[in-house]
Amino acid sequence: MRKPETIEPDPWHFPRPELAEGYLRAFELKLSSARGLFARRRMGKTEFLRRDLLPAAAADGYLIAYTNLWDNRSAPDVALVAALTDALEPQGVKAVLTKLGQPLKKVRASAKLPGGAEGALEAELAQQAVDKSEALREVLKQLDRQKKPLLLVIDEAQVLARAEHGDFSHALRAALDIRKGSIKVIFAGSSETTLREMFARASEPFYNWAPLEAFPLLGDEFVAFTIKLMNSMARQVLTLKQGKRAFDELHRTPEFFKRFVERYMLYQPQGEEAALAHTKASVFSDEHFLKQWTEMNPADQAVITMLARGESDLHAKEGMAKLSVMLGKPATRNTAGHALRRLQSENAVTRLALGDYRIEDEAFAEWIRRRTAPKH
Ligand SMILES: Nc1ncnc2c1ncn2[C@@H]1O[C@H](COP(=O)(O)OP(=O)(O)OP(=O)(O)O)[C@@H](O)[C@H]1O
Ligand SMILES: [Mg+2]
Repeated sequence: MRKPETIEPDPWHFPRPELAEGYLRAFELKLSSARGLFARRRMGKTEFLRRDLLPAAAADGYLIAYTNLWDNRSAPDVALVAALTDALEPQGVKAVLTKLGQPLKKVRASAKLPGGAEGALEAELAQQAVDKSEALREVLKQLDRQKKPLLLVIDEAQVLARAEHGDFSHALRAALDIRKGSIKVIFAGSSETTLREMFARASEPFYNWAPLEAFPLLGDEFVAFTIKLMNSMARQVLTLKQGKRAFDELHRTPEFFKRFVERYMLYQPQGEEAALAHTKASVFSDEHFLKQWTEMNPADQAVITMLARGESDLHAKEGMAKLSVMLGKPATRNTAGHALRRLQSENAVTRLALGDYRIEDEAFAEWIRRRTAPKH
């Protein structure tokens, strides 16, 4: 059963109020009713959506709903309906339950349980027999009775693109289509390829539904903010220049930079160089990379290694020759093609353009490069 989510305040959060305002203004001006945002992993999408955008929307008079479909990838329909339910008053939740055929007695009893009526609805939804699309329509009908507009944030939205969720996605699109005035939607995700397919393929439920754009990344202002806060607590201060260098060396990834700052704070006598070296070693050598790696077949390993080294001429003669050497047997065009398809479906690799591929997780790319770098 899900507890209503509250987020603890975090002094290390670098607020981005202008960015949040920008999205809300665009909705207000009716320039769009949906937006799609993508950025690579660990770049701060979720943190922005939850700590900046949703609170700003609530302050602006929106009802808000958030769901992360990656955490619920086997049942995104349940997760979505549950998130929308959080925006309802208890009365509305009960009305939905009644519609879905849940006996009222059971509802009353469950209202005393932790999680209350929402919990009862989520438990009910998870049952096989419940038609998720119908549940969605009922929840939206209740939302229609509210005076306020709703901001729905769907994080890791690419899960909806999977074929097995097609029926529900179609129902969702149809339901949102007729509510463009009252429900604004943000789709976010780290897999640019899949998000693109979701919005650009005529056969997909969300075809042409939201413009897809790059999520603006954190930069020097974030570094300055973090270094300043750190210096207010540290005995040995760091200069902004040192901070920027560390940020660059960590591929401008906010999560890794925060780990560097933490390491520096805890081991100040060892200094900045040591903290950076430690952070790099730990973030670029995670155990799960080894697991991810060993689960790949040799062709996938060879192809992803070439991509990590910036060699994307996979189908060209030289590329195939290199692949053959790595595999110890002749590679064909199909070898690379099949491997690329598998790597994309596992979200390990994304296709930017024809013949132009990139590893989704820069830390994994770095790990692969380090793994295969000649030892001195
Ligand atoms: N605005 C911010 N201020 C301070 N730290 C941040 C900020 N944004 C991100 N971070 C740091 O980076 C980490 C990763 O951010 P977040 O989880 O939002 O990334 P993401 O883009 O959603 O990644 P994923 O694609 O893996 O879900 C956070 O846990 C936090 O430590
Ligand atoms: Mg995220």
